[in-house]
Amino acid sequence: MTTLITNIKELLQVRENDILKVSGKEMKILPTLKNAYLIIEDEFISEFGSMDNIPKIKTDEVINANGKIVLPTWCDSHTHIVFAGNRENEFVDRINGLSYEEIANKGGGILNSAKKLQSISEEELFKQSAKRVEEIMFLGTGAVEIKSGYGLTLQAELKMLRVIKKLASKYPIEIKSTFLGAHAFPEEYKNNKEGYIDVICDKMIPAVADKKLAEFIDVFCETGYFSIEQTEKILITGQKFGLTPKIHVNQFTSIGGVQIGVKYNALSIDHLEIMTSEDLNAIKNSKVMPVALPSCSYFLSIPYTPAREIIDADLALALASDFNPGSTPSGNMNFVVATACIKMKMTPEEAINAATINGAYAMNLSKTHGSISKGKKANLIFTKEIPSYNFIPYAFGSNLIDKVMINGKFI
Ligand code: NIG
Ligand code: FE
Repeated sequence: MTTLITNIKELLQVRENDILKVSGKEMKILPTLKNAYLIIEDEFISEFGSMDNIPKIKTDEVINANGKIVLPTWCDSHTHIVFAGNRENEFVDRINGLSYEEIANKGGGILNSAKKLQSISEEELFKQSAKRVEEIMFLGTGAVEIKSGYGLTLQAELKMLRVIKKLASKYPIEIKSTFLGAHAFPEEYKNNKEGYIDVICDKMIPAVADKKLAEFIDVFCETGYFSIEQTEKILITGQKFGLTPKIHVNQFTSIGGVQIGVKYNALSIDHLEIMTSEDLNAIKNSKVMPVALPSCSYFLSIPYTPAREIIDADLALALASDFNPGSTPSGNMNFVVATACIKMKMTPEEAINAATINGAYAMNLSKTHGSISKGKKANLIFTKEIPSYNFIPYAFGSNLIDKVMINGKFI
């Protein structure tokens, strides 16, 4: 099946397919082609160029993009989309003065979500989560990472991971799975934290690996959650079982988690709202992808990840949603990109790079996703008629997406 797309006003993020991420000053450059065509063979991009040089080939279908901008779909490398129920009452508690930590300390937060998740059926969990996957697809997300971590028992963690696997087989977008048993300490281990670390290392990780339910392992490394020593033990065990580290660090405090991520070759270190100069230095000369989650900062009113300092230190940066019921009840990557520009002073070029090619890197997907490149998946956002791509972050409250194509087919 050959599809030809004609009259694209501007085709964004056109790159050679061996570019796997962009860092520092390179992030300011978003390579584009004006007045372009694009050819898709089955589910892959096979050719693109200027309308002036459009090749004469036999096609099965022609799509006239008629003045629309086309860009690769968003790559959302950090979400907790599989969860049960919601926590809108905690949201109101926060408006009335309680902090995120105070809510967690009185049994709300992650433990509240865990209680809900443990008590619903796998079918119901799938149904609730599938709605969110459908929602983000129509908002332009073509690849997403989903974490466990609201189970906190062996059975409930495996239930979450099976739901992620089922979502991956049911939906055309690429879904990557992360085991996050170390998201919070269950109530019964409050006074026996090492006991829960043993459950994670001796029971959960071997079971997850044995059933091939995750590619990545994550830890919420933070004051009041998992310490540096506990994080290290879990990452070492995960690596022994073939899981690649990705970690939550520096959301509220800087306790050395960044250095641990670098030490254990984490694919990404995520959050980074609080960054010291030592943290910044530790990332230099490493392969790790720093990931900022601006919707989380927005929703919790906590500092934004210092994107300018990170990029100006010649480092890479990815943007992700953190979609979850407590700190970020939104998976809208268009809002993430806009907020990165508005609040973190990223340029539209930097934000689009961060939410496409660098997001793909943070999921080990940049060989197939994240740019308009020959041989990559034909995952495309067709915008409504907009004056320029700067309009995407500028008109932050409007839905500017006309259509989304995944694997060469409109959804
Ligand atoms: O990434 N930081 C830890 N985990 C989530 C929040 C989880 C929750 O509140 O349910 C996050 O922000
Ligand atoms: Fe998270």
